[in-house]
Amino acid sequence: MYVLGIETSCDETAASIVKDGEAVLSNVVSSSLKEHKKYGGVVPEIASRMHLESITGVVDCSIKEAKIKLENINLVSVTCGPGLAGSLLVGISFAKSLSLGLGVSLLGVNHLHSHIYANFLNGEYLSLPFVALVVSGGHTTLFYVKDFDKIDVLGATCDDACGEAFDKVAKILRLGYPGGPLIERLAKSGNPKMQFSCSNTKEPLDFSFSGIKTAVLYLVHSKRLTVNEKKDIAASFQEAVIDTLIKKSLLACKLKKTKRLVIGGGVAANNRLRERFYSEAEKRGLNIYFPSRELCMDNAAMVAGLGYQLFNKGYKSGLDLNIDLN
Ligand code: KG4
Ligand code: ZN
Repeated sequence: MYVLGIETSCDETAASIVKDGEAVLSNVVSSSLKEHKKYGGVVPEIASRMHLESITGVVDCSIKEAKIKLENINLVSVTCGPGLAGSLLVGISFAKSLSLGLGVSLLGVNHLHSHIYANFLNGEYLSLPFVALVVSGGHTTLFYVKDFDKIDVLGATCDDACGEAFDKVAKILRLGYPGGPLIERLAKSGNPKMQFSCSNTKEPLDFSFSGIKTAVLYLVHSKRLTVNEKKDIAASFQEAVIDTLIKKSLLACKLKKTKRLVIGGGVAANNRLRERFYSEAEKRGLNIYFPSRELCMDNAAMVAGLGYQLFNKGYKSGLDLNIDLN
C-alpha cells in the first residue's frame, strides 16, 4: 500500500511516499527557513504563503522520486495539528483536493505522534508499549504509547518548549536562528562550568525551560561576551537541559515499568543529547531509540507511516477534516 504523506505544520513543506508503513520511497522537504532568518523566528504569515508556493512542486517531486504514478497512491495522510493554523490549512486543503480527485481515502494525523513514528522507519524492530519523549521547537512532551491510537500524555512543558529555549538562548548569545544546531556547535569546545539548572515543576513529569533562559539572559545582561564565554554558556545551558530531559524520561520509564524509551523531534538530532541518553540507558539496561537525524526534523515520511498504521485500524477522515491545534 502506497501512502502519500503531507506535512506543513511549521516552516517545512514536506511530502513523502511510504510503502506499507515502513519503506520510505521518497522524502522531500522544502524549507522556508531563509525567509524567516532575518526576523529571528518563524513568521506564520510568511510560512503559509511559502507553503502555497511550494506544495504542488514538493508533492510532484515526492511521486517522481518514489518512481510511482499518482494513480498508485492508496491513501493521503496529512498533519492536522498541532502547528501554525495557516500553514496546516494549506496542507489539509491540498490533501483533501488530491484525495477527492484520486478517489482515495484521507486521514489527518497528529504531528507529535508522527514524530514518535519516525522511530519505526529505521528498519529496527520496536515493540509496544514504550515511553516516548518528543522534543521539538513547539513541544516537549512525555507519552506512554500503548498502540498507535492509544497514546497518553504523561507530562509536558509548562512554559517554553525545549527547542524554543535553544532558539531563545541562541538569540541572547547573538548566534542566529535556528538556535539548536548553533548552540550544539559552540558547546562542543565549551566548559559546562556555569551552574544552570531547569526549574522544578509541580508535576514531576512536566518540564520548565523559561527559567533557565532568563538565567542566561541575566548572566549575559548586555555585556560583550568573548567567544570562550559564549562557548561556556552554551555548554552549561545544553548540559542542564539534557539533565532534566534524562531525569524525567527515566522517571517516566520507572513509573510505567518499561525498559523501552523512544525519542523524537528536532532537538533529538543533538549529538550530545544522543550520547548522554545512550550512556544513561546503558547503565540502567534500558533500550533507547532515536530516528535518523534527517527524520528527527519535520518530514512527511513519519506522517505517511503513521497514517498507514491508523488506516489499517479503521481510521479515516472526511472532507470536513479541520486543523486541530491541541
Ligand atoms: O521538530 P522540529 O523540526 O520542528 C517542530 O516541530 O518544532 O524541531 C525544530 C526545533 C528548533 O527549535 C531547533 O532549534 C531544534 O529543533 N533543533 C535542535 C537541533 N537541531 C534542531 N536543538 C538542539 N540541538 C540540535 N542539534
Ligand atoms: Zn515537529
